[in-house]
Order: sequence, then structure tokens, then C-alpha cells
Amino acid sequence: MRTALLSITVFVAAAQAQQVYITTAGYTDRPQCSQPTASPHYRLQPFSYTLQETVRYATSVPAPTTTRTYGPVYTDAVKYLSASLSTSTWGNWLPNRTVITATDTKDPYGQAAWSSLWQQADIKNYTATGLYSTTVSPTPIPSSELVLPPRDYWGPTDCYNFPENFIFGVAGSAAQIEGAVGLEGRTPSLLENLIQDDRPKDYITNENYFLYKQDIERLAAMGVKYYSFSISWTRILPFVLPGSPVNEQGIAHYDDLINVVLDAGMLPIVTMLHFDSPWMFVADDNITARPDIGYNNAGYQNETFVEAFVNYGKILLTHFADRVPVWVTFNEPLLYSFNFAGIDNVVHAHAELYHYYHDTLNATGQIGIKFNDNFGVPRDPSNASDVAAADRFQEMQLGVFANPIFLGRQYPDSILNTLPGARPLSEEELTYIANTSDFFGIDPYTATVVSQPAGGIDACAADASASNALFPYCVVQETKNIYGWNIGYRSQSYVYITPTYLRSYLFYLWNTFHHPVLVGEFGFPVFGESLKELSDQLFDSPRSVYYLSYMSEILKAIYEDGVHVMGALAWSFMDNWEFGDYGAQFGMQVVNRTTQERFYKKSFFDLADFVGARQRRA
Ligand SMILES: *[C@@H]1O[C@H](CO)[C@@H](O)[C@H](O)[C@H]1NC(C)=O
Ligand SMILES: *[C@@H]1O[C@H](CO)[C@@H](O)[C@H](O)[C@H]1NC(C)=O
Ligand SMILES: *[C@@H]1O[C@H](CO)[C@@H](O)[C@H](O)[C@H]1NC(C)=O
Ligand SMILES: *[C@@H]1O[C@H](CO)[C@@H](O)[C@H](O)[C@H]1NC(C)=O
Ligand SMILES: *[C@@H]1O[C@H](CO)[C@@H](O)[C@H](O)[C@H]1NC(C)=O
Ligand SMILES: *[C@@H]1O[C@H](CO)[C@@H](O)[C@H](O)[C@H]1NC(C)=O
Ligand SMILES: *[C@@H]1O[C@H](CO)[C@@H](O)[C@H](O)[C@H]1NC(C)=O
Repeated sequence: MRTALLSITVFVAAAQAQQVYITTAGYTDRPQCSQPTASPHYRLQPFSYTLQETVRYATSVPAPTTTRTYGPVYTDAVKYLSASLSTSTWGNWLPNRTVITATDTKDPYGQAAWSSLWQQADIKNYTATGLYSTTVSPTPIPSSELVLPPRDYWGPTDCYNFPENFIFGVAGSAAQIEGAVGLEGRTPSLLENLIQDDRPKDYITNENYFLYKQDIERLAAMGVKYYSFSISWTRILPFVLPGSPVNEQGIAHYDDLINVVLDAGMLPIVTMLHFDSPWMFVADDNITARPDIGYNNAGYQNETFVEAFVNYGKILLTHFADRVPVWVTFNEPLLYSFNFAGIDNVVHAHAELYHYYHDTLNATGQIGIKFNDNFGVPRDPSNASDVAAADRFQEMQLGVFANPIFLGRQYPDSILNTLPGARPLSEEELTYIANTSDFFGIDPYTATVVSQPAGGIDACAADASASNALFPYCVVQETKNIYGWNIGYRSQSYVYITPTYLRSYLFYLWNTFHHPVLVGEFGFPVFGESLKELSDQLFDSPRSVYYLSYMSEILKAIYEDGVHVMGALAWSFMDNWEFGDYGAQFGMQVVNRTTQERFYKKSFFDLADFVGARQRRA
């Protein structure tokens, strides 16, 4: 690139000096410039003011005309649960409530037992409610909020349309937006205790638990077709384990949420577990102990986890599979797996729910799993040692789940040889687990440059001690390429704008795992955004560049590379609680944390407009 720029400068300077035509013959970077450019013709003319753009408004999704069903309704499906369901309600856990006043202390699922779950979790500096304590009725979005912003000067130049069944949507997760963590029967999740210092907690966040109707209305007004959200396990089953009663208020909440999405003309995508694992699974554990793999201990390795998760998943499918076309069992399981047993449990639990969904309920929607991963790109693709490092990185983050689930193949050797306690799957297990995901969910936020550590991979992999910071991946990860440049434009956090790597990543995933790829999350926290004035936060051009370039590359992957990309879900539809932080804003709406007002950012319009302009017409 730098060579090309240099030669163009020389070329233009020489041409101006001689006052000759500049031709573009032989210049391949601008294929659109086939005509010679004339010399300038300076002249004086009258001036008048003009508006640069005519006003345009976001186009709302059309009202629903048909309702499809994807599985049996509750009354039919419930017959396929092994135990009969009992229901109950519990109420609210309020701050400073240290004394259990309930008298039903003999009931294992009574009010006293419910309160004691909160007491045991001992969450710090708890605040119960923000502004709301009941569901807020929605109001229509005024058209003045739906005027498109000025376009950025540079933009996509492609001529592709999205395939007709392409899923375009936005995503969020329960604990990051709902708030109301102790209200209406919910019990503690790991996330209430994740932040042990004075950084923000998930107690209130965006109060989406009460504001969901308005939040959905705002998405529909922007023309968003799919809304991807997660369900809070401890709202559905406060006592978590099989045989414990279902929380009527929790079921009613998500039942209504799904119906509100459908009534708005949108479709729901539901994730069963997005990090907010029940606190119970780690109650007796040291949650600050160093993981063998991943970042946090969510208790997936607990010996009671698989049966409990499968029971919870079946209860969700029983209630909602009739109306939900796309299900995700686990969000980014690696990050909270903690150790090999955690990974192994996720693989088994996922497969059981896939079989239940398709083989027992005969449901006709799609169910899959979605992974975290920064694409590991070799520092130098012509260097075998760098390529081996990148392969290992992909294997340990993706292959560990995807080998068995998508290909019926054994856990990668890198996992079996590195992680303490790792054991291979039996032939019988592999047969049961093979091909148990309808799509390959991936959250390809960015890319990372990968190479081998100085002492080599094997020496690193043999050293599981806490002083070995590279364990267990044992590859060097960098944000600069081999020439010393950043890999892309940097955000507030780990995300760099790397659209061309997204395209090669999609190519890799489709051709390695042979299933349609669902981009389950992608997004960009603009650097320092939260420190800016509101109007400056709203004009978020870097985020627009991120989204439009990624979407352009997705279209190229589909049409030029033959990659089956099933859809793309933007993270996130509003700024939210980012695990102890409100500074890394991934949202396409600003949220005022005092008033809970939402404001559309420019990128939301730009992304919706990009997709709207590329709907395939028959
Ligand atoms: C709780 O609040 C106190 C006083 O503001 C603060 O010092 C402490 O760090 C907070 N603890 C947590 C876990 O938030
Ligand atoms: C594992 O989960 C069970 C609840 O099913 C809990 O009683 C136990 O304490 C957990 N184990 C650890 C080490 O936290
Ligand atoms: C928990 O793990 C941390 C980090 O390994 C360690 O420093 C701490 O001593 C452990 N606490 C207990 C009670 O074992
Ligand atoms: C699903 O199909 C199987 C096999 O045909 C059948 O036994 C089962 O009853 C069906 N389940 C439902 C919910 O209809
Ligand atoms: C995986 O499942 C799909 C859908 O049921 C089927 O079309 C495909 O043949 C299966 N692939 C393998 C390798 O079993
Ligand atoms: C490949 O990269 C490694 C560092 O990752 C380096 O030590 C080695 O010399 C490189 N090999 C070649 C052939 O450039
Ligand atoms: C939130 O809204 C209030 C009331 O309109 C306003 O005073 C405050 O400045 C806003 N906060 C931010 C961070 O914009």
C-alpha cells in the first residue's frame, strides 16, 4: 500500500507540472477510474445555499401477517418432561434484609429457603430497584427520533443483496440489561458476585426487565427483524435443580417478552445461558482461583451441572419452542468453563438438549451453540511455526467444542495433552454428540496476531504453574501485525476493526466445520465514547465503519467465497453493563443512567439502512 501511494504522488505532481491529462492506465487500486481526468477549468459562478440531504426516516418492520409455529405448544410438550412441574411465586429480595422472617423453614422451596439463597450469596452494596418496579407500557417512537443522520463520506461500494432468509438482528443478554436481580422470585447468579471491588454491579443496569416493551418498540421502529436475548436461569428455576418448582413470574415475563417481539413483527432468538450461571454451583468454591482455561468459574464443572442445565433447557423448550425459531444453548462457553470438566459438561449438556429438541419434541426451528473467538491469524502466514500457533489457538478455543459437536471428532490433541484431567470421548459419546448443532454460532469481534512463544509450544504446555502466563494456549497474542502496525483501528477495549480478517474467518469456519455460520455477536466500543457529550456519542462514525465494513465482507463471503452465512446479530442494541464497566460502550443506543432514556446512535441508522437497501427482491 505504501508503495502504491508513493507512486501516485509522483505521478500527479509530474502531470500537474506538464498540464497533461492524468490517465489511470495500469493503476489497479481504482478500477472504477477508467476514464481519463480532464485538466481543471477554473471559473466564477453565482453561489446559493443547499441542503446536502433530503430527510429520510427509518423504516419500521411491517406488522405481522402470519404466525408460524416451530414446535409443540406447552400443553403437548409438557408431557415429554420426565417430572411434573410445580409452580410457585416468591417475591422480592430487598436491601439490608438480613433476617429471614418467613416461618416456612421446613419447606425446602419455601420463602425462608428462597431468602437464605440470597443470604448465602452475600452480594455487596445491593440496591434493589432503580426507577421502576413494574412493567412500563410502551409509547410510539416519535418520527422526530427516526430521522436518518448525515452519511459518512466513505462507504460501501458493493452491489450485493442479502439472501432472502438472511437473519439480521441485534443482541443483548439478561444480566447485562435486565436489572431487577432480586425481584419477582429470581435468585442469585454468579454475576452478582463477579465484581468484588467497587466497580458497577448488574443490580439495575438498563431496567430492561421493566422496560422491555419500550425497548422492543424501539427496535421495531428501526426495522430490526430479529431480537436475540438470553433468559435468566434463576428467574425460571430459583432453586435451579431438577424437581424444584418453576417461578410463575419468570415464565410469565419471558412468555410476554416473546409475544411482544412477535406482535411487533419481529422474531426472537433465545440463548439459554449467557454467563449468568446460578450462584449455587459455585457456592462452596473459590471463585477467584485461577482457571485452567477461560476466565471465570461459573460452575459448569460442578457434578450437578449437566442434569440441572438439561432440565432447565427442557423447561424453556417446553414453554417457548412453539414460538421461537432459533435457540442457542450456551453463549461463549469457553470463557466460563474454568477447566476441562467444565468444557466436557457443556459438550454433553448441549448434545442432550439438541436431541430433546429435534428427536423428542420434533421441533422444526434451529438449535445451536455460539462461541467466543478472536480469529487467531498467523503473524506470518508463510512461516510454518506461526501457522502452527494459529492452528493451536483455533483448536483450543473452537475445536475443543466444535470437533465433537460439528464433526463427531475427538477433542483436539492440544487440549488432551495440555489441560489437567482431560480425557478423550468414547466412540459411543462421539456418536451421540456428532452433528448436534444446526448452525455454527460465532462472535467474531476482531482478530489477534498469533505466533509461537520463545521457548516453543511444548515447553509452555508442560508448565501449568501460575507463573506461566501463556498457559494453556501457549501462543503469543499481539495486536500488531508483522510490520508493526496495529491490526486495525482500535476501540475502547480489545476490539480492532478487522473486516478483511472476518471474511477469511468465515471462510475458515464454513470450510472446516461444514455448517451455516451465524455471526451471533459483533460490535465496537468507540474509544472514550462515554466521556463525550450526548450529541457526540450519538455521532459514532467509527462504529458505523465497523458495522458497514463487516457487513460488506459478509456479503463478499456469501457471494464471492460461497460461504453459507446464516445471519448477523449486532452487539449491542444499547449500551449496557459490561461486567463491571459502563465505559466500554458497545451499544447502538445511548442509555442515560439517571433517567433510563434511550437515544439512537448514528450507527444504528447506518446499519439498518445498509441492510434495508440490500433486501433481495424476487
Ligand atoms: C461497597 O461500598 C463501599 C463504600 O462506598 C466501598 O468502599 C466498597 O468498595 C464497595 N464494595 C463493593 C464490593 O462494591
Ligand atoms: C455444586 O452444586 C451444588 C448444587 O447443585 C452445591 O450444593 C455445591 O456446593 C456445588 N459445589 C461447589 C464446590 O460449589
Ligand atoms: C482462592 O484462590 C486465590 C487465587 O488462586 C488464592 O489466592 C486464594 O488463597 C484462594 N482462597 C482460598 C480460600 O482457597
Ligand atoms: C416426535 O416423534 C416421535 C417419533 O415419531 C414420537 O414418538 C413423539 O411422540 C413425537 N413428539 C411430539 C411432541 O409429538
Ligand atoms: C447432520 O445433520 C444434518 C441435518 O439433520 C444432515 O443433513 C447431515 O447429513 C448430518 N451430517 C452428518 C455428518 O451426519
Ligand atoms: C518463524 O517465526 C519464528 C517466530 O515465531 C521465528 O523464530 C522463525 O525464525 C521464523 N521462521 C522463518 C523461516 O522465518
Ligand atoms: C441524563 O439526563 C438528565 C436529565 O435530562 C441530564 O441532566 C443528565 O445530564 C443526563 N446524563 C448524561 C450522562 O447525559
